[in-house]
Amino acid sequence: MKPSVGIVGCGRMGTALAKTLSGKGYAIVGVSSLHRTSAERLAGICGISDATDTPWEITRKADVVFLTTPDGVIESVCQSISQQDGFSPSAVVLHCSGAHPSTILSSASKSGASIGSMHPLQSFASVDISQNPFRGIRVAIEGDSEAVSLSAQMARDLEAIPLQIITEGKPLYHAAAVVASNFLVTLMGVAFRLIQQAGVPPEEAFSVLKPLIEGTLANIGRVGVHQALTGPVVRGDVQTVETHIQAISEAMPELLPFYNCLVHYTAVQAAEGNRISPDMLETFLKLITQMGCCINDEV
Ligand SMILES: NC(=O)c1ccc[n+]([C@@H]2O[C@H](COP(=O)([O-])OP(=O)(O)OC[C@H]3O[C@@H](n4cnc5c(N)ncnc54)[C@H](OP(=O)(O)O)[C@@H]3O)[C@@H](O)[C@H]2O)c1
Repeated sequence: MKPSVGIVGCGRMGTALAKTLSGKGYAIVGVSSLHRTSAERLAGICGISDATDTPWEITRKADVVFLTTPDGVIESVCQSISQQDGFSPSAVVLHCSGAHPSTILSSASKSGASIGSMHPLQSFASVDISQNPFRGIRVAIEGDSEAVSLSAQMARDLEAIPLQIITEGKPLYHAAAVVASNFLVTLMGVAFRLIQQAGVPPEEAFSVLKPLIEGTLANIGRVGVHQALTGPVVRGDVQTVETHIQAISEAMPELLPFYNCLVHYTAVQAAEGNRISPDMLETFLKLITQMGCCINDEV
């Protein structure tokens, strides 16, 4: 028989979990939120009557408790439930934050409960869910052994793929997700600004660059980051990089630290992959320093 589930925090993640787990045969025994109206909305979706703004009323009877509040209050919400003896000693208490480790739930662990974190690598933009948002995604899990094995089973039941990570690795794991997702958006924003400055209409910037972006992603998948690198740095074409720096410093000098920082790390990565020599790496590093626009000057 599947464990029963209680949800504290009825926003986007709490709703996605409650709705999808309910559809997979998990009994949702109650939901709680800061505002009772949010809990009542989610209870209505799950077809249950137990909705409250007093979390321990529902957490006591749950085999698994998800604390799906905003990151900043997970620890204090867990503490206040623990102080009210709100966790069964046999419960598994989980949060879904990508940035925080399971150890922020240590107050529940003192009550005898198992603790873990279960972070779906997915963006949940709304509480309106029509399809299973967990299907095929990775769910990063860590915590004590009972929490890890139950989280892995729940991830599989959600049709996701569990990815076990070490507790100490949580901040770096989250930084990786931020770099791959948020910073990709930033990178594209800068590329759009540059191409618009070159005269391409703003509405065409994405469609012009899209095949290049998609081709690069496909190459990374096929041959890995070192071999996927093309362009002036890996060709050792110092003059072209110098031309870029000149043009950017004239048209959009505020973007120079950004450009130079990426030349720096691209050259380092190319050298690591033996695509350029140590001497060529040195040449690129000297170039961005000599042109008075090294990232270090700006910080
Ligand atoms: N959304 C995503 O894309 C995503 C992806 C991966 C992981 N996560 C993680 O999922 C967790 C929840 O994020 P979310 O996006 O679902 O946030 P959200 O949509 O803002 O929902 C958070 C919910 O928590 C409730 N809440 C706030 N303070 C509370 C308290 N003191 N006690 C009880 N409930 C409280 C809010 O209640 P009211 O509605 O009652 O005001 C709100 O419904 C976070 O740890 C986040 O890092 C989110």
